[in-house]
Amino acid sequence: MEQTLKSYFPALQNDETVYLDSASSCQVPQRVIDSISKYLSEGHGNAHRGMYPFSEKAESLLFQCREKLAHLLNTRSKNILLTKSTTESINLVANSFRNKIEPGQTLLTTLMEHHANLLPWQRLCEQTGAKLDFIGITEQGYLDLNDLEEKLANNCALFAFSHNSNVLGTTNPVAMLTETAQKFNVPTLIDGAQAIAHQLVDLRELSCDFYALSGHKIYGPTGIGALYVKQPKSLSPLLLGGGIVTRVKPNGYNLTDDITQFEAGTPNMLGIAGLVAALEFFFQQDREAIFLLERQLTEKLIQVIESQNYRVVSDKQSNSLVSFVSPQFHSHDIASVLADQNIAVRAGHHCAQPCLSAIGVKQCVRVSVGMYTTDSDIDRFEQGLKKVSQILV
Ligand SMILES: Cc1ncc(COP(=O)(O)O)c(C=O)c1O
Repeated sequence: MEQTLKSYFPALQNDETVYLDSASSCQVPQRVIDSISKYLSEGHGNAHRGMYPFSEKAESLLFQCREKLAHLLNTRSKNILLTKSTTESINLVANSFRNKIEPGQTLLTTLMEHHANLLPWQRLCEQTGAKLDFIGITEQGYLDLNDLEEKLANNCALFAFSHNSNVLGTTNPVAMLTETAQKFNVPTLIDGAQAIAHQLVDLRELSCDFYALSGHKIYGPTGIGALYVKQPKSLSPLLLGGGIVTRVKPNGYNLTDDITQFEAGTPNMLGIAGLVAALEFFFQQDREAIFLLERQLTEKLIQVIESQNYRVVSDKQSNSLVSFVSPQFHSHDIASVLADQNIAVRAGHHCAQPCLSAIGVKQCVRVSVGMYTTDSDIDRFEQGLKKVSQILV
């Protein structure tokens, strides 16, 4: 299977490149490129705004995009709104909570978060006088849930956490977290950026209020993302402008009463065309087989890394990534020697500085897999890592 899958991705067709940074952004299959090109070459129009075929085609793609995202998350398209990214989705929710929070309330998140799921809550606290509270990380690298109920009971206005950590690779017990929050009537937001491409996500089983994701983490283009909202009426739009109103007077406006009220302005049609194709492609694959293969490749990476005396700091059960440190070398030096051999990995703090501090490291190297990763990519990485020791010692 593995060779066939890689063959769909034009950027990976030269034998030179080993791409092990899918957690940062995925490569796209030819079909995504074709879809963007076809959209433009067959006539572009502005969705919502014309009665001619170009515009109708744009409108139809927009509709399909919400439908496919709903299928991905096993929910209804009327609860899916399109954004630019996970970051924008989380900011939209934070902005909506601005008028709902009272001083003295808490916002609960975890020390495991990407900055995208931290900074918006920090600002919301500054704006409202709320206090930010955290679920810590155990020595084993899991969320420390001992005081979860106590924290939720402490006048908590919202609980935001990642589905999978982008540094530790941990899959958090999201069903249990949302159920517990529900007992305390605390709404939940799940940052799904690192989960959507590596496991099935079923929002009929997860009773979260918000689920945020990015298209480029699931083989689509950048600049397009989504937010699932259980009760769209609970949110207010981040942007105001065209396409979201039923009536406007010089001194007032009435918003549409559906999800479109959150999508002001001309939509990112290239992103939408690309994401529709990426999701169609994803659904056509044997996803269970891909997830299994990714897990096996991650295990193999752990063996390779540990056999060369690096310390793995991520969850060894991760389905998609391994983070590691060297007692001798800086992560940027390791990544740079690997890059010289055309092996792409990520080094640094991975936009998760509190997470790194919590596990006692300043920086680390992260290697991550996608559906196109092969055994021979890992073999090349193994050789590359050997060279790192030879060169840096
Ligand atoms: C867990 C997590 N959340 C949020 C983000 C932000 O995603 P984007 O930059 O697409 O908004 C990332 C990106 O790496 C991530 O890994």
